[in-house]
Amino acid sequence: MFVLDTALHSTIHFDVIIAGAGIIGLSLALELRREGLAVAIFDAAEPGHGASHAAAGMLAARDPEMPKALLPLTIASAEMFPDFVHSLKSSGVDIDFQQHGTLVFHESENPSIGIRLNEVELCCIEPELIMNGNAVSLLVEDVVDPRSLTMAAMVSAFRAGITLFAFEAIQSVLRKEDSSLEVVTEKGRYRTHKFVNCAGAWANEVTDVNVPARPIKGHMISLKSKHPFSLRHVVRTPEAYMVPRKNGSIVIGATVEDVGFDASVDPATIEQLWSSAVKYVPELRGAEMTESWIGFRPGSPDKLPIMGATGPEDCFVATGHYRNGILLAPLTAKIMVDLLLHKEPSIDISAFSPQRFK
Ligand code: GLY
Repeated sequence: MFVLDTALHSTIHFDVIIAGAGIIGLSLALELRREGLAVAIFDAAEPGHGASHAAAGMLAARDPEMPKALLPLTIASAEMFPDFVHSLKSSGVDIDFQQHGTLVFHESENPSIGIRLNEVELCCIEPELIMNGNAVSLLVEDVVDPRSLTMAAMVSAFRAGITLFAFEAIQSVLRKEDSSLEVVTEKGRYRTHKFVNCAGAWANEVTDVNVPARPIKGHMISLKSKHPFSLRHVVRTPEAYMVPRKNGSIVIGATVEDVGFDASVDPATIEQLWSSAVKYVPELRGAEMTESWIGFRPGSPDKLPIMGATGPEDCFVATGHYRNGILLAPLTAKIMVDLLLHKEPSIDISAFSPQRFK
């Protein structure tokens, strides 16, 4: 990680300063750097350890629960993903990106999406799974391990000459007489031409460029079977989802809790997630739990992203991606670069304007 000494660098000018070194901020920084701009990212905590570290990484672009307004963006971003992953390959980080598809279990007999499978077909492709009286369909859908993706983006950012300030919260952003912006942190003051608030669930805390982002907590666990075991597809059931990683572990999630920044991990909730997984994959009963954690999804009042200009002139925001931050990262980066460079984005984002909360 690249951490500058604030006292030495408080007079440095950047072209763009970004708040938040999650996958949204990092992807945007990389796109801006490709345009030749001098970019700095500030993270109030450890870079890459917010929602991007907690996420499951399902690129569920056509999930039936996806808000209609978001579909053009999720579909476009999912199509960009293979190239996005490829663009981070030179980091040397082994990105766990899998394209086996997703099995959706649903109570309805008439699934609106995917190829319907019967019990024999399901058993042929995933012998460990049981149907539990559900209908099952197979969807073309990719999945990525967000931790490896974020690490690759961070290494790429470092190599590209992007400056990363860790454990340094941005407090406010002021417009100066010379028309530059002054970014004030708890440790210093920095000058920039443009500012983008990508601070996820914490985006409301950046005074002057705040938007009504709010944390939506999710509990997750990771299990590893003690016996030879195979699950290749992502599985989404009415109770929980299961995401196999290349290293053999299965990530199981997730709760959706509107409880503010309560970082506690509740043992009963963990137990509930585990039981939900066992109901569909009995082999997981005897598995070892390798990790349990919580994350704070960046929610918004209408559960849609918040992207556009806000606050003083030349200040922008990109947050509120809620359950789809990993999926929407490559497209969000392109959209935000267009906005910063005064170009028309390739996709209509009027429904996501921060102005809708004014
Ligand atoms: N994107 C998965 C979740 O929000 O739990």
